[in-house]
Amino acid sequence: MQLNQLLVAVTLAIGITSGHGIGHDKPGKPTPEPTSLPEHDVPIDNNTVIDTHSHIIPDFLRQAMLDNGFTLSPDDSILSNGVYIPPWTLDGHLNAMNQYGINYSVVSISAPGLIFLDKKPREQLKLTRKLNDYMYSLTKQYPTRFGAFCFLPIPQVKASIEEAKYCLDKLGFEGVGLLTNYNELMVGDKLFEPIFEFLNKRNVPLYIHPASVVAECWEKTTHGYGPAMIDFPIQSTRTLIHLFASGMRSKFPDFNIIFSHGGGVLPFIADRVGNFLSTPQNGGYNSTEMFEQFRAYYYDLASAVSKPTMAAIKEFISTDRLLVGSDYPFTPGPAAAGFVRGAIANGKLTPEEQLGYKNGNALRILPGIKAKLLGRRLFRVD
Ligand SMILES: *[C@@H]1O[C@H](CO)[C@@H](O)[C@H](O)[C@H]1NC(C)=O
Ligand SMILES: *[C@@H]1O[C@H](CO)[C@@H](O)[C@H](O)[C@H]1NC(C)=O
Ligand SMILES: *[C@@H]1O[C@H](CO)[C@@H](O)[C@H](O)[C@H]1NC(C)=O
Repeated sequence: MQLNQLLVAVTLAIGITSGHGIGHDKPGKPTPEPTSLPEHDVPIDNNTVIDTHSHIIPDFLRQAMLDNGFTLSPDDSILSNGVYIPPWTLDGHLNAMNQYGINYSVVSISAPGLIFLDKKPREQLKLTRKLNDYMYSLTKQYPTRFGAFCFLPIPQVKASIEEAKYCLDKLGFEGVGLLTNYNELMVGDKLFEPIFEFLNKRNVPLYIHPASVVAECWEKTTHGYGPAMIDFPIQSTRTLIHLFASGMRSKFPDFNIIFSHGGGVLPFIADRVGNFLSTPQNGGYNSTEMFEQFRAYYYDLASAVSKPTMAAIKEFISTDRLLVGSDYPFTPGPAAAGFVRGAIANGKLTPEEQLGYKNGNALRILPGIKAKLLGRRLFRVD
């Protein structure tokens, strides 16, 4: 047997023992890459699904939450000001990806981040680094399955820029992840201008995940409804509006920004917002310019694929801006699979639009993923 035949045979054997179509990696132990059929000759094919919205919640993050006043609910979730944060394991995450056809997932840290440590800045820095190093360990162990958005120690601005440099230059992350707001502070607040300036200068993709309303008064402002249901989408929409009205985005327009859940309620109420903001009492903004700004962002469709939602999204956002978001583990695996099928069916996406949604749009704005998926070529022996 020649060397190249031998390697193909070895690769085949590993691929077969691992079962599922994309379930090449056995969770829990390091697996050599590549582990499947001779993918070194396969380009990124039409079945490939790239998920830009999923989360990890390692045990040490859970512990930090419990140590800082969050409570454990009977279902083993952690309850944070009305938001249930489910348990998470690496095995569960990989199994869900394998079972529901997600090839590659860019992980990030969801709300509330570590804003509950804002009075303990040193502890916040330490845990921030630990979270990023942990995400790095996943991307290293499973380079063709996981990428990551860098977590920043907000509200520490200088340290945030240092952390972003560390993630981008040393850890090879796909971009940076922020929340729509940190209690009273919107992500477009003047305080964070140096971060936007940095992202703009280096053309770093930014992922903006929704967060709760102000923690201390969530019950009053939501009338007791858990903030994840209604208020998360509203916070995404408010943030889009704030980035426009504050001038932050037009000052730093050169890097891509991803919003979650189809922009929250944006496509549905954009017209109203435009009319409102164009009145003199509300700033006299130019709504045409505002809509142009909104349409230049990217949007994942986690929990935003029903027929009415897709109709509004297709009408307001062009389909070359849409990304797959699983929102695992906040959304269980089967529902996440439904987001891929649902958007395609309910949005009546053409084959080209489907391809863009499943992988093409993500590959365009997160170019590191392509290199990593094709990194299997390293094993080519001819
Ligand atoms: C992604 O997984 C599908 C099976 O669900 C497989 O057909 C495809 O080749 C995989 N893509 C890559 C780039 O490995
Ligand atoms: C709003 O902006 C658009 C695009 O820049 C421009 O064509 C239009 O004249 C502006 N409208 C007003 C009322 O200034
Ligand atoms: C992949 O999808 C594109 C767009 O629909 C299509 O042109 C191409 O033929 C497809 N490739 C395969 C191998 O099915």
